[in-house]
Amino acid sequence: MNYRQLGRTPWKVADVSFGAWAIGGSWGQVSDTEAMGALNKAIDSGVNFIDTADVYGDGRSERLIAQLKKSRKQEIVVATKAGRRLPKQTVEGYSRQNLIAWVEDSLRNLACEAIDLLQLHCPPGAVYERPEVFGILDDLVKAGKLRYYGVSVQAVSEALKATEYPNVQSVQIIFNIFRQRPADEFFAVAKQRKVGILARVPLASGLLTGKLRQDSTFSGDDHRNFNRQGASFDVGETFSGVDYDAGLAAVEELRKLLPSGVTLSQFALRWILMFDAVTCAIPGGKRAEQVAENCHSSDLPPFSKEIMKAVRGIYEARIKPLVHSRW
Ligand SMILES: NC(=O)c1ccc[n+]([C@@H]2O[C@H](COP(=O)([O-])OP(=O)(O)OC[C@H]3O[C@@H](n4cnc5c(N)ncnc54)[C@H](OP(=O)(O)O)[C@@H]3O)[C@@H](O)[C@H]2O)c1
Repeated sequence: MNYRQLGRTPWKVADVSFGAWAIGGSWGQVSDTEAMGALNKAIDSGVNFIDTADVYGDGRSERLIAQLKKSRKQEIVVATKAGRRLPKQTVEGYSRQNLIAWVEDSLRNLACEAIDLLQLHCPPGAVYERPEVFGILDDLVKAGKLRYYGVSVQAVSEALKATEYPNVQSVQIIFNIFRQRPADEFFAVAKQRKVGILARVPLASGLLTGKLRQDSTFSGDDHRNFNRQGASFDVGETFSGVDYDAGLAAVEELRKLLPSGVTLSQFALRWILMFDAVTCAIPGGKRAEQVAENCHSSDLPPFSKEIMKAVRGIYEARIKPLVHSRW
């Protein structure tokens, strides 16, 4: 496992870290035993950074992480998120009263005195025009409730705006082989402002593992079933907003590029690490075997220019027209 500096924080985090949404909820049933198995495997593989949110399984993901931290000796940095408890996303919802209540809830669930990194959880774009919201976060740092804060965003335009606030340490954004715009328009700015980048949805919700097929089915409580058209949250969070069949066709092209002994999941994650502006990828994993496979990608050799060019070619031809201008 290799480690990279996270923004201007003191932490060097595993470049393949762990996303804890699926062990919380919205991805079909995952038992506590499976979830703890996945988390423990991550730590055994060198992961020292976990991304979660208050709403993942209504606090379940945070509580499982608290259990993990209690049972392991290593330092584990936890990033959580706030904002999605609002019944309707409004700028006014990001009030001092609400932010304090969400933070207190997460502190209880995580069983800690200060949150390592709190991220605004894809708030409406207009929040980035409200310095007072970032002022509240600064106050929460001063009060010892947060160590650092950052944002999770949907669009590149929001990432650029958010990083104008001097104490934003990290931007979480969808970045994967099917979502390349952040590299074109945001990474240079993030590097210059010394802001960490958490690449979320790195496997395009499983499409980039190469295991999905046209007839794959998902249970009713899996967002790959209920959010395919964006019925519950932004459609971009499910399969990166890429049309399912178009994604499958692109995967067949990508398969031809696999070096021997490398799985498509590992290829997709190693591709992300080719961008030095990225702090880490945060793949979700429901089972220990998935986590072990994903973590191994950190140790793969860098890709050649030819491979990078071929991946970009597949993106340009098959995916870019579907997503590039949207996020
Ligand atoms: N708005 C936000 O801030 C936001 C939104 C989305 C995600 N996130 C964060 O980003 C993290 C990662 O994104 P994500 O979980 O949505 O998507 P992802 O990492 O692209 O996909 C994760 C899913 O792919 C499957 N998978 C993982 N590794 C695999 C492997 N080696 N082989 C086969 N299948 C594998 C698993 O599901 P199955 O086994 O069921 O296929 C897993 O749950 C989340 O956990 C969360 O922490 C944040």
